[in-house]
Amino acid sequence: MRQAGLLVAGALKLAHSMALPGTKLEEIDKAVDEYFLDHQAEPLFKGYPGKVPYPGSTCLSINEQVVHGLPGPRVLAEGDLLKVDTACRLAGWCADAAITVGVGKISSAKDRLRLVALEVLDLGIREIAFQLKRKGLWSEVAAKMQLRAESAGYRMVTQYVGHGIGRSMHEPPQVPNYVDRQTRRSDFRLEPGLVLAVEPMLNMGDSSTRVLRDHWTVVTRDGLASAHVEHTLGLTEKGVWVLTADDNAEQMVNV
Ligand code: MF3
Ligand code: CO
Repeated sequence: MRQAGLLVAGALKLAHSMALPGTKLEEIDKAVDEYFLDHQAEPLFKGYPGKVPYPGSTCLSINEQVVHGLPGPRVLAEGDLLKVDTACRLAGWCADAAITVGVGKISSAKDRLRLVALEVLDLGIREIAFQLKRKGLWSEVAAKMQLRAESAGYRMVTQYVGHGIGRSMHEPPQVPNYVDRQTRRSDFRLEPGLVLAVEPMLNMGDSSTRVLRDHWTVVTRDGLASAHVEHTLGLTEKGVWVLTADDNAEQMVNV
């Protein structure tokens, strides 16, 4: 899964390098698609079942678009907050990750949202490492992430959640980024061997979302910006292995 994760990290790096004013979304999608194929990997989003099969190898969501934005002819503009999400399967194993990047110069409000989203994921990873040692529950991690997002003045999206991942992109358990009575009922213990795709989505305003008529694009109801970051995390005896970490980033997170 680390090999698949490295490819996802490489694809996100490539997408990031293209995220400039004037770039067409479909150009980024094409580049990522070709990158996976060049590396003998299968893009996992393409054809994903829904009301209409998913039409690309990436989800490219701009500003008030939360997730599942379609890679069409739209052109990136200075100041856009772009979320890039992608996944691949290599030699039978999957990896899934997402980044939020600014296009050109972005407002300080958008940049703060982006930074807090990164902080929330980072804090989540460290809390998983801590709870893993004590065979703790996922809800402890979710509560910490939600608290950090809300203390910063944002709202966590509750309509969409993370997931287990392995031979398939979406496996049990569901991995919510918030806690309520419902999520506590389907809580699970953190133990070595689990691999989770953790993907907090933070809204500048209200947490509620809706899906556009294209059947995919999820937007905030209030039209305010949203940020989304994701890593595939392997839970091991030694700590948390960030399987989608970039080549030169920290890969093992211990308590
Ligand atoms: N990263 C998202 C997910 O984890 C994107 C999947 S949407 C798809 O679940 F349809 F494009 F695959
Ligand atoms: Co995912």
